[in-house]
Amino acid sequence: MSAPEVELEMSGVRRAFGATQALRGVSLAVHQGEVYGLVGPDGAGKTTAIRMLSGLMLPDAGSVRVLGADPAHPRSPVREQLGLVPQRNSLYGDLSVDENLKFFARLFGLNSADFASRRERLLSITRLERFADRRADALSGGMYKKLALACALLHRPRVLLLDEPTNGVDPVSRRELWELLYGLVHEGMTLVVSTPYMDEASRCHRVGLLYAGEVIAEGAPRELARAQGVAPGNFEAVFLELIRGRAA
Ligand SMILES: Nc1ncnc2c1ncn2[C@@H]1O[C@H](COP(=O)(O)OP(=O)(O)OP(=O)(O)O)[C@@H](O)[C@H]1O
Ligand SMILES: [Mg+2]
Repeated sequence: MSAPEVELEMSGVRRAFGATQALRGVSLAVHQGEVYGLVGPDGAGKTTAIRMLSGLMLPDAGSVRVLGADPAHPRSPVREQLGLVPQRNSLYGDLSVDENLKFFARLFGLNSADFASRRERLLSITRLERFADRRADALSGGMYKKLALACALLHRPRVLLLDEPTNGVDPVSRRELWELLYGLVHEGMTLVVSTPYMDEASRCHRVGLLYAGEVIAEGAPRELARAQGVAPGNFEAVFLELIRGRAA
């Protein structure tokens, strides 16, 4: 079997904000068609890593490659292939669901026929049709995240970065969101999803465990659990074992 194609890669990435070392030499690789989880507690460096992968922020040292190119390059062809769902406030609260979609479609340069078909499809998969006229800031947490996802998918990206898409979302909507994400991967997309919820690690094909700006383990959740001698369902225990191993 040939090795899976690496679509996103960080190599020795460092980034500091003043005295805070947000990323301390992060290396990771995401393969085509997988759901890759960036799992770690608050302040671990998840958002900083996602910003690097999206090309919105430059590393102090190290390199970032997405689909073989530097995503931060202003004329990088990769930019059109990337979708981003930021951690918070990515939408216009005083615009409706439909108006937000229209706004992002214009930003991505979609023509009106393409927009009409994308709009229909995205409202349908997110089940937001009935709420097309509702202002974004009047949506529930889960619906807001789904709209942010729909806006990020308008231009049919090959790679999607999602920063804590399930944070503040109720368990039912959380499951719906994951189903939606698997549907995208089924269509051939590659996903990087950050989450502070340890139990969501098992929903990913592979994870990078981020702790204080470092990837302390990377691999399939089951394999990481086996390596730590922990039941696969209990990823919190895996994480605690790994942290304990480091402190010792
Ligand atoms: N623009 C910034 N200015 C100063 N410090 C920053 C900035 N961005 C991030 N940091 C710091 O870098 C560290 C990593 O932050 P980051 O936002 O990447 O973590 P995170 O894993 O996304 O956390 P959370 O789960 O709370 O979103 C934290 O200590 C944070 O305070
Ligand atoms: Mg964050």
